[in-house]
Parts: sequence; C-alpha cells; structure tokens
Amino acid sequence: MIKELRVAQWTSFDHATLYIDPLTIVIGTNASGKSNLLDALSFLQRIASGAGVFQAINGDVALPSLRGGMEWACRKPAQDFELEALIGVSDLQEYRFRIKVQVNGSKADLIGEELTLLTYRPRGEAPREQRLYHTRPEESGSPGIGVYFQTGTQGPGKRFDLSRSYSILTQLETTTLRKEIKEGARKVVEDLQQIFVFDPIPNHMRGYTISTLAILGAPAHRASRDRQSRGQSPHGGPWGTTEPTRQARCAAPARRRGTPRDAAQAVAASCASTRSQAGREITT
Ligand SMILES: Nc1ncnc2c1ncn2[C@@H]1O[C@H](COP(=O)(O)OP(=O)(O)O)[C@@H](O)[C@H]1O
Ligand SMILES: [Mg+2]
Repeated sequence: MIKELRVAQWTSFDHATLYIDPLTIVIGTNASGKSNLLDALSFLQRIASGAGVFQAINGDVALPSLRGGMEWACRKPAQDFELEALIGVSDLQEYRFRIKVQVNGSKADLIGEELTLLTYRPRGEAPREQRLYHTRPEESGSPGIGVYFQTGTQGPGKRFDLSRSYSILTQLETTTLRKEIKEGARKVVEDLQQIFVFDPIPNHMRGYTISTLAILGAPAHRASRDRQSRGQSPHGGPWGTTEPTRQARCAAPARRRGTPRDAAQAVAASCASTRSQAGREITT
C-alpha cells in the first residue's frame, strides 16, 4: 500500500507530502490542490501501467490528458517535477520510489529515477537504505538515461543505458539484474497499478428513477393522479413507462400497509422474494 506521496514542483505545489492511511480524507478550499494530488497519483498509475512519461501527461488515443496537460504539469515557471511514493511491504520494510521528469514545450523526458529499499530498525533509528537503482543528475544531458543497478558489491553498480521515455520500472524485463531489484520493481509496479481514481461527475449521476418516488414519496395513488393531471403516464418515469418497474412492483405492498416500520419490513420482504424469483440482485 502507498503510505506517502511527496510532490515537488508538481502543478500548484512547491513541495508537499500527503500521508496516506487506509482511509484518508483530503479537505481544502476550492483550488487548494486536492485534485492536483489525485492527478499525481494518476500519473504514477499510468507510468506503472506502461504509458510513456509524455503520454501519461498528455494522453493519447486511448488515454485522456491529465488536467492542464503538458502546460500545467510543472509548477510555473519550473520545467521539471518530482514525485515520490513510499510503498509499504511490511511493518519494517518499505520501498521509496522517486521519479523526476522534465517538461519542455511538447516534450517530456525522464531525468531521474531511483528505487530504494528501506529497512527500519527496532528502536526508531534511521532505516537502513539499499539503493536498488539510481540515476545521476550530472548525466541528464545524454540521449539515453544511465541507470546504475545495485550488484551487491562496493562501487556505483552495473550501468545500463535505458530510454528517457518510460519509467525504469517498466524497462527491466530484458536486463539481467539481481533478484532483489526485480522483486522490488514488481512490488512497486503492482501497487502503483492498483491506484484507482474514482471521479464521479455529478450530472452523469443525476437522473430520474421511479424507486425514490415509490418508497419515499407520496402515496402511490396520489402521485399517480398528480402525474395524470400533468398529462403524464400514471406509472411515472420521464418517458411514461407503461409498466411499473421491478423496483416499483417491489415497493408496492409497503404502500398498502400501516406504519412506516411495517412498510419498511414489507419492502424488505417483498424485495427478498423478488430477488429470489428473479435470481439476481436488484437495487432499491
Ligand atoms: N502548473 C501550475 N502552476 C501553478 N498553479 C497551478 C498549476 N497547475 C494548477 N495550478 C493551480 O492549481 C489550482 C487548482 O487546484 P485543484 O487541485 O484543481 O484544486 P481543488 O481540487 O482543491 O479545488 C488552480 O488555482 C490552478 O491555477
Ligand atoms: Mg478538485
């Protein structure tokens, strides 16, 4: 699970950290950056799923652009941004994944990436850091990106030139690397791929439904009479349904009974029998 997200020069943020618990609620005034943080998570999800850094921001035929696209990805006037995610493995271990991207006009390139395994020690001392791979800022001018992979011995590591268009996480298939590196990358990719940003659009969710009317509204005969006096179908629905919906049939016995409690029980009983007859779930 992602435990922390850090952003630097991302959209409206200079530097910011979001601590993530199983339930995290982000509250803020309009334009305080809530959606910008979600966009950072979407970016990570996209690159872990194989999109290039450019496509992750700009979109392509199958992927919508992130809000603001290339123009607004970096905090103005910066031309690069950095994102970091801490991914928990156990109480004592987590991976730190960092990615730095340069956005220049219509071009986006990877300029830095690092994956580190952090192992915490019992008495709150600083964690032991094992850098599984890293890049060097001083080499940011070369066409490919030089990536140094840990070999388990002293020294800078084994160097491979990889593409600047994709996250290193998704370029490790063909390279021979230590098991720890491949395992770490797999775990981080899996967790990032699972990010799901649910973005409900209110006017896609609004609509007419007869079930609300049948259960919460006026007695059926009155609602039906009112609709008839407006020249609509007695069964309701904006398009004049000629037959009551399953929900309406399901709620019907409730309206003939006495107290609200009786009504609720009747609805439940009736729904249960409708459900078993139909052999599938219905929503009321
Ligand atoms: N690249 C950028 N540089 C500076 N400000 C930015 C950038 N991208 C977005 N913003 C600002 O971020 C704000 C929108 O933040 P947003 O995440 O949509 O807010 P919220 O979801 O909290 O309402 C706007 O004020 C916008 O101008
Ligand atoms: Mg928003």
